[in-house]
This record gives sequence, structure tokens and C-alpha cells, in this order.
Amino acid sequence: MARIERVTVLGSGIMGHGIAQISAMAGYKVIMRDVDQQFLDRAMERIRWSLSKLVEKGRISSSEMASILDRISVTVDLEEAVRQSDLIIEAIPEDMRLKKETFAKIDAIAPADAVLASNTSTLPITEMASATKREDKFVGIHFFNPPQLMQLVEVIPGAKTSSSTVDLAIGYVRSLKKEPILCRKDVAGFIVNRIFIPLVHEAAWDLQDGKAGMREIDAAFKFKLGFPMGIFELADYTGIDVVHKATKEMYARDKRVVNPCPIIEDLYSKGHYGQKSGKGFYEYKQGSYTRIELSMQEAERYNPIRLLAVAINNASWLISNDVASKDDVERALMLGMGIREGIFKVAERVGYAKLVDTLRALRASSKNEFYDPDRFLLSLVK
Ligand code: 3HC
Repeated sequence: MARIERVTVLGSGIMGHGIAQISAMAGYKVIMRDVDQQFLDRAMERIRWSLSKLVEKGRISSSEMASILDRISVTVDLEEAVRQSDLIIEAIPEDMRLKKETFAKIDAIAPADAVLASNTSTLPITEMASATKREDKFVGIHFFNPPQLMQLVEVIPGAKTSSSTVDLAIGYVRSLKKEPILCRKDVAGFIVNRIFIPLVHEAAWDLQDGKAGMREIDAAFKFKLGFPMGIFELADYTGIDVVHKATKEMYARDKRVVNPCPIIEDLYSKGHYGQKSGKGFYEYKQGSYTRIELSMQEAERYNPIRLLAVAINNASWLISNDVASKDDVERALMLGMGIREGIFKVAERVGYAKLVDTLRALRASSKNEFYDPDRFLLSLVK
């Protein structure tokens, strides 16, 4: 496949509609498919909202907005969606069986040279690819929410992905004016979710243990560590259902990747999915883009050292295990989560020895190997 002209996006939810939008913005002809017309109508409404924001900010003109919308069509018919496609990106629910079934179906009807990609947050690319007869043309292309604004896209080859498929995925990401970062190994959580998902749980543990209130933890995460949102605010924004599912999947693959806190399970079981359901950690006007106002004064009442220690430990694990370089891990967090500066710079200021002590204390009190300091982190302690 030399050129991509037509892109299919399967699934029109938070990620699917965003991927469809930015692909159309880059000039591709896009078909977005979902199982129900109502979902597609809602997705088009969101795309119109987002494009109007970009017009308001002068990033695109109104006539560009009209031609972007013209390049997007929608359908509930799977065959129609993939029949003429060059690149098919799946953003359907995080259910391995459903994904494998869908990929097996589209493998049989899509053009023989079409590349199949998954936007999965955490599921193994190699296993998904095995549902098709084109494992060499299967790749992970993982976007971050909101895809319209986040610069990072992780590209994850499976065991049999060819180098030309990886190149095509990287070329596609660059054509969207986004930054591809190669995740060299198909590990649980890839790069960013390996850091983000455990952080939500660590913050929830401190909340559960009464170390601080929700707003204080959020404010400290934002103002002391330099993230653009509080960690609970971000979990609500991403979706508690997404965080919950990712936790389950990551934990099933590797017990040392996260220490699940029951608060997430509890919110999930009550249907408190965050912004999308009107309630998560915080309450919202359902479905609208809402921010939580946090203050520096609130930040003063909580020391986020546990959060930083776990984030830096997981970042170190990625480096020790040759999943990504230190530079790529830092860039991935800056581009995918919007942290203002490299996480190792933040850690250096606090002191690696202090972070290792924090991990050792957590290891001792929890008896959980998750907190064992990684060898790369240990090598940084002078
Ligand atoms: N399209 C266009 N504009 C949008 C938008 C969208 N989808 N979403 C928000 N905006 C607009 C806002 O309405 C706002 O417009 P206004 O100035 O007219 O009010 C403008 O963008 C700026 O938004 P904010 O005022 O809220 O300010 P921020 O500077 O904080 O930017 C943000 C918003 C980019 C979302 C930033 O807060 C951020 O980077 N947050 C972190 C997001 C993150 O970490 N994402 C990754 C989650 S993990 C993931 O997705 C992986 C998955 O597998 C789980």
C-alpha cells in the first residue's frame, strides 16, 4: 500500500469521532461506522462542536470546516464501511472477543492490501492480529483524548507486523500533524497508560486512606506536578468505564503493573462513568465539556510524592525493559498527557532517593511487589 486515501473509523465514541475528525482535517476521505444511527448522529454533533471551536480560535476557516464535514460520511453497514478502505482504525469497546470477531469479519471483506489498526488502550496487538490472515498488515495506532488536541499517537507493532506497515502508520500519524512515538514492545498499557492508569489508583488510595480530599489531591497533581488537569478530573474526563476496563486488562496481563483501588470498581459498578454519565469523582452537567476549578491553596494541603514515585517507577520500567527510550517516555507524557516538563526533571528536583524511599515504604506497608523500585530508577540514585 503506497498511499492512503480512504480511512475507515469503526466506533464513533469519544475516540472514534475524534480520529474521524482529524483524519478528515488531514484531507482523507473518512467513513465512520457504528452499530446505531443515534451514535453516529451524536458523533457528528461532537465533530461540529469541535470544528466550530477551531474556527472560533482561527485555526481553520468556516469554509474549511464545511469541506472537512463533506469528507466524512457515516454508516451502520460494516461492509460498506470497509469495502474501499486503505486504512481501517478500530475504536470500538475494549472487549477482546468483540474486537477479534470484528477484525475477522473485516479481514474477509476489506481490500487485500488495506492496513488494519486498533486504537485499543491496553489490549495485546499480537492477539488481535491473530484473528486475521494479514498479521503483517496489523498495527496499534493509539490516540489520546481528546484526539483533536493531544499531539501524541503511540504506534505499536505486534509480533508479526511488517516494517512497511509500521512506516505507513507513522506516515499517517505525521500526515495528521501529530507526533508518532514507537512503543517497541506490545506490553500492557503501552507507554502512557502504563503510567496514567496506575496513577489514578494511587491517588484513589490516598483518598481512601484519608491523606487528603479529592480537590486537594487534584490541585497538587495539577499545580505541583505540572499536569493540565487533576488526576480525578482526568479520570472522569477519560471515563471511569475506560479506566476500569484498562485496569482489569492490564492487571490480568501483569499483576505488577497497577495496584487497583476499590474506589474505581465502586464508581464503575454504580454507573458513575465521569463526564459522560454526569457523575464520577465529581458531578457534571451530562455530556458537556466541563473543567474543575482548582486552586493553589488546595494544592498546598497535599504532597503528591506517592504519585510521582509511582509514575517515575513505571516510567523507569519502560526504559529498563526496552519499551521506549527515556527521551520517548518523557515526550510521550508531555504530548499525551500535557505535563509541562519532563517527568524525570520533576523527579530530579524532588530527589530520586526520596522517591525510592517512598516506594520502599509503600512496598513494606502493602507487601505488594508493584512498589519494588525499578533498576533504572535505582541507577539514578547517587
Ligand atoms: N476540540 C476542540 N476544542 C476543544 C476540544 C475538542 N475536542 N476539547 C476542548 N476544547 C477547547 C475548550 O472548549 C477550550 O475552549 P475555550 O478556550 O473556548 O473555552 C479550549 O479547548 C482549551 O480548553 P481548556 O480551557 O479546558 O484548557 P486546557 O489548556 O487545559 O486544554 C486539554 C484542554 C487539552 C484537554 C488539557 O487539559 C489536557 O491536555 N488535559 C489532559 C488530557 C490527557 O491527559 N489526555 C490523555 C488521557 S489518557 C488517554 O486518552 C488514553 C486512553 O487510552 C485511555
